[in-house]
Amino acid sequence: MTRRIRKVVFPVAGLGTRFLPATKTVPKEMLPIVDRPLIQYAVDEAVEAGCDTMVFVTNRYKHAVADYFDKAYELEEKLEAAGKGELLEVVRNVLPKGVRAVFVTQAEALGLGHAVLCAKPVVGDEPFAVILPDDLIWNRGPGALSQMADVAEATGASVIATQAVPAAQVSSYGIVATETFSERRGRITAIVEKPRPADAPSNLAVVGRYVLSPRIFDLLESTRPGAGGEIQLTDAISALLAEEAVLAYHFQGTRFDCGTHIGLIEATIRHALDHEKLSEAAQGFMREALAELGVVDS
Ligand code: G1P
Repeated sequence: MTRRIRKVVFPVAGLGTRFLPATKTVPKEMLPIVDRPLIQYAVDEAVEAGCDTMVFVTNRYKHAVADYFDKAYELEEKLEAAGKGELLEVVRNVLPKGVRAVFVTQAEALGLGHAVLCAKPVVGDEPFAVILPDDLIWNRGPGALSQMADVAEATGASVIATQAVPAAQVSSYGIVATETFSERRGRITAIVEKPRPADAPSNLAVVGRYVLSPRIFDLLESTRPGAGGEIQLTDAISALLAEEAVLAYHFQGTRFDCGTHIGLIEATIRHALDHEKLSEAAQGFMREALAELGVVDS
């Protein structure tokens, strides 16, 4: 895999039931952190990594994601007429020039592995990335996918982002066993989806970033339903291990699990504290609120 990845798959067909009632009408990928939806952070990370083709695997009920990346003629005209050039740029840049969005429908919710397989006709026979927009990764330097694309390009291997989690949480993740890490990476020797703590090979969890060899598509085609009765990407990666090198990678950055309430709140607070216009007000408000609760001295 010495080619730089160009295509990224975003599985966005999930129901987002944890965020009901908001997700009755707003897909979870459209929930905002400050003023940008989660999907925008994911796309920005992909563009920064050098990718130019965004493949959204969606379902027939979810139009909001496609609408969001579509050109908004009337809005752009109004902003232009009102002389709101800065906002106009923001709206135009949801997909920067030269970057294209492709939408693929996942007809049935058969699992993450199945969602990725739906992107096969668009990706074809080249290495590609998968980003799960729920996992927001914040870093001052290069984004997580950019770091991983560098490793994939340099080693020719597939690369999966991993992070240590408390033992009690292993049953919420794909868990890997690896050889010894050096330079933030270690070859994966085993991977299992959502194991019971007693069966987990380690506490090293897969987070939502993958750079994968196209061989994964053939393997997904013969992957039977696994954990939760779903076709799991983890199970196809387990088959890939027998044929090709797959590396676990400790990315630089902080990951927020925006698939949970507290993760979304953490991401919002962290981004507000770092925001060039909101930082001071956010710090002030937080100090006041914590003092009011008696958590810190006023
Ligand atoms: C998916 C993957 C799992 C991975 C997780 C990361 O699970 O199947 O291997 O650890 O994403 O967020 P999900 O959270 O969709 O159940």
